[in-house]
Amino acid sequence: MPVRFATKDDVGTMARISSEAFWDDELFGEVIHPYRDQHPDGPRLYWLALIRKGWQDPANTFLVSTTGDEKNKVAAWAQWTRKGRKETAADEDSMRKQVEWPALPPNEAAHPERITYLERSYDHISHQWTGAREQAYDIAILATLPSHQGEGHGKALMQWGIQRATSEQVPISVISALGKDGFYNKLGFTIPAGNAQDGEGNPLAGLVEGGNIWWKEDHLKA
Ligand SMILES: CC(C)(COP(=O)(O)OP(=O)(O)OC[C@H]1O[C@@H](n2cnc3c(N)ncnc32)[C@H](O)[C@@H]1OP(=O)(O)O)[C@@H](O)C(=O)NCCC(=O)NCCS
Repeated sequence: MPVRFATKDDVGTMARISSEAFWDDELFGEVIHPYRDQHPDGPRLYWLALIRKGWQDPANTFLVSTTGDEKNKVAAWAQWTRKGRKETAADEDSMRKQVEWPALPPNEAAHPERITYLERSYDHISHQWTGAREQAYDIAILATLPSHQGEGHGKALMQWGIQRATSEQVPISVISALGKDGFYNKLGFTIPAGNAQDGEGNPLAGLVEGGNIWWKEDHLKA
């Protein structure tokens, strides 16, 4: 599963992959995009906007995993966020921050209020990345095309961040989507640390069943 840094030209494909991968996800599908069947392009627009926003932040590194055959198709992608330190992203592509993107049409599949809930919920859980866990890697987004799931793409994209975190000796966090705890537990994310719905006034409270927060620290030397 060859993994490489994403380029600007991959962004459209990455948005399409997430749209498919998270189509029926309880949060990105049902909660945020209740009108996706009537407006099937909406989730793709949502992901495009989200990726473009993250693209400008040097704390983020974007990776793609390709099929490695003659087509070498992009089958999966990840966004790793380095918490606690403002630095140039690992691809050191400074041009990444200066991209001017064409405007997007409105996302008619989205719930007008709920579309902001995820971003607003972060204020309630940001204490996770403080104290001994201020310096950390977070796997912010991970998506494999449904037709390529189970081929090792997710694991390969995870290995990149695990290696970085091991060499920097910092812990790794994830907010796990419903049904994905087992995937992360297998990779050593075994320290439970609450849920994305935690905190008084968190807009996600009661809306989802998933969102468990896990930490991985087994790669840290005692
Ligand atoms: C979660 C996801 C990224 C996994 O990607 P993938 O490319 O299918 O995963 P891999 O093929 O690398 O699987 C690695 C291992 O995890 C296991 N695994 C995969 N999904 C699992 C799950 N939901 N629960 C438990 N184990 C799982 C695989 O069986 C494999 O085990 P092995 O190493 O013993 O062979 C993919 O299912 C996905 O994109 N889902 C929809 C979007 C999503 O929820 N993303 C995660 C957001 S937190």
